Amino acid sequence: MRPVADMFRPLSRPAEMIHSSSLLVLAITAGIFVVVSALLVFVVWKFRRKGPEDDLREPPQIYGSTHIELAWTVVPILITVVLILVTSRTIGEIQNRVMPENAVQIRLVGHQWWWEIHYEKEGIVTANELHVPLSRRDGTGERPTELILESADVIHSFWVPQLAGKTDLIPNRKNRTWIEPFVTGTFFGNCAEYCGTQHANMLLRVIVEEPEDYEKWVRKMRQPAAVPHADLAAQGHKAFFANSCINCHMVDGTVAAGVFGPSLTKLMTRQTIGAGVAPLTPETLRAWVRDPQKLKTGCLMPDMKLPDSEVDSITAYLLTLK
Ligand code: CUA
Repeated sequence: MRPVADMFRPLSRPAEMIHSSSLLVLAITAGIFVVVSALLVFVVWKFRRKGPEDDLREPPQIYGSTHIELAWTVVPILITVVLILVTSRTIGEIQNRVMPENAVQIRLVGHQWWWEIHYEKEGIVTANELHVPLSRRDGTGERPTELILESADVIHSFWVPQLAGKTDLIPNRKNRTWIEPFVTGTFFGNCAEYCGTQHANMLLRVIVEEPEDYEKWVRKMRQPAAVPHADLAAQGHKAFFANSCINCHMVDGTVAAGVFGPSLTKLMTRQTIGAGVAPLTPETLRAWVRDPQKLKTGCLMPDMKLPDSEVDSITAYLLTLK
């Protein structure tokens, strides 16, 4: 359930750029390590104590050598300049990328401890799972996704290792990054800046789909929520709107317009509950409605202390949101 995200297997453009420049940096620093360690071993061996007469002899005293001092000043400066150039070129290439017209535009807002997701052009609001189209690198269908990063409370950090490097989400500030995945699949990310009790359970999934499947997903997400007619779900619908659920949660097209918690409009299209704390199943959903503090201690949704009948009916209603 807690998959590894491997930063050494980049599958998207910015991640690939960062990967190759970090390999270069690693090679340069590994070279320095080998040279320095070899010299150290050599010196320790060469000037070892050879016998009791060494204890009395004072080593030769050398005062100042312009050549040596120049060497150990100039060489590190040159190496540092190379490292600065390598990294700033990559940073510049990522930051200055001009997004094409067709780029998907997502506003990602970090919350304690979940991700609010807005598709600006499509008018979709969702949470914790990004769907993005595949970008074909052969030039027949390049389609990057631009991410505008904001925070509703404290500093969080966006990091999906196989897709892009880290970028912080800072209150009162808009940061920007982008991804351009070359393969379909599900990629795992994590908030990468300690942001409170449930920082470790602030997981993010990026689902990369074929362009057709992505468009299908967009159409599905834009359909209004149906009002349930089945008994239990209909009761749950009533209970949901009679309780304080709607102060924090949104169900598109209804009076539920809360923004403090994740949008529930298409809840059942998601793979997990509680920003990745558990897979989303009828059982975990019921457990969450019963008492979210059991699944995710410290999360901002309190135990609503609902009677069993309402826990069952509200769960039945939520199961219809797909
Ligand atoms: Cu959000 Cu750590």
